[in-house]
Amino acid sequence: MEIARVALGTRSYDITILVGGLVNIKDWLQKIPVKTGALVVADTNSANFFGSVLLESMNAVGFSATMTVVPAGEASKSLAMADCLYEAAIRAGLDRSGTIVALGGGVVGDLAGFVASTYLRGVSFLQIPTTLLSQVDSSVGGKVAVNHTLGKNLIGSFYQPQAVLIDPQTLATLPDREFASGMAEVLKYGLIADANFFRELTADAQDIGRREPQRLARMIAHCCRLKAEFVERDEQDTGERMLLNFGHTVGHAIEKAGDFERFTHGEGVALGMLAATRLSELHYNLPEKTTASVKAAIKAYRLPTQATGLDSETLLQFMGTDKKRVRGSLRWILLRAIGQAESVCDISINSVTEALQGILAVE
Ligand code: GLY
Repeated sequence: MEIARVALGTRSYDITILVGGLVNIKDWLQKIPVKTGALVVADTNSANFFGSVLLESMNAVGFSATMTVVPAGEASKSLAMADCLYEAAIRAGLDRSGTIVALGGGVVGDLAGFVASTYLRGVSFLQIPTTLLSQVDSSVGGKVAVNHTLGKNLIGSFYQPQAVLIDPQTLATLPDREFASGMAEVLKYGLIADANFFRELTADAQDIGRREPQRLARMIAHCCRLKAEFVERDEQDTGERMLLNFGHTVGHAIEKAGDFERFTHGEGVALGMLAATRLSELHYNLPEKTTASVKAAIKAYRLPTQATGLDSETLLQFMGTDKKRVRGSLRWILLRAIGQAESVCDISINSVTEALQGILAVE
């Protein structure tokens, strides 16, 4: 078992990473102090795989738990769906000592966390993330939100969970493309904060690709610890935490340009990291061979290195830049070296356009 602690004073919590943790979840639940009403929020996939074991175990240790299942997919991250969950919580008689439990990926975690942060001005919140992306990123650090028709994550808050349980065995059934998508965020931690970790990930790509649960547990725990350090230093995301957005400026534009269908979040981030590394070459004279090693790592995890079918004009537009402006006001996270990221605003559109060519040009 690995424990990653998020130290935030009275809002501190442990992330338990335990192979087989879900099958034996009673042991973990027994350590949670408050045991009254609980509402489990799951998506169709997580409910099928893990819903009954969680409900039975919760009821066995004294929680009086019910479950609400939301459709899998980003469309569930809405105020309308939050309203359905408020209704389920009220009908289940959840009072202020109640608990909301997220069982699933990032959509379920963000949605259930948002409901937990607002229902009766805030009730206890437990996270049981079941995808790689949610295990290494969204379940850590307390960002909870729903989408608005005018943009993603526009309505939300910082609301830390009481505890997080990660069982790497849940990844055995994850589709390959989703596993690869999570690996983009894993690579990101190495690139922005830990060069040794990046080297290890590059060397162990085949091994990690086999998804041996103990190997994944070590990797996930390391990511959670690295993220916890960022969150502890900058919980409200006004400074250092923004370095976690490495690759996301271009990544989000790629996701949008592909109508959130052609590219997964991780694929967008992988391409965005490659563009940001090339931009670091132009801005910081980062050696060309660094970009080559980033590209090789991305390829090793079966993530794309070419944004096929997109063009720089469209990407610049989705990034909110104006081609006619010589200097964009966008914030860029760039690399001084592998493991050392910095936030920069003063980047010319010409440099951005040149960096984008590296992921747009056909090889
Ligand atoms: N996903 C980036 C963060 O939590 O700040």
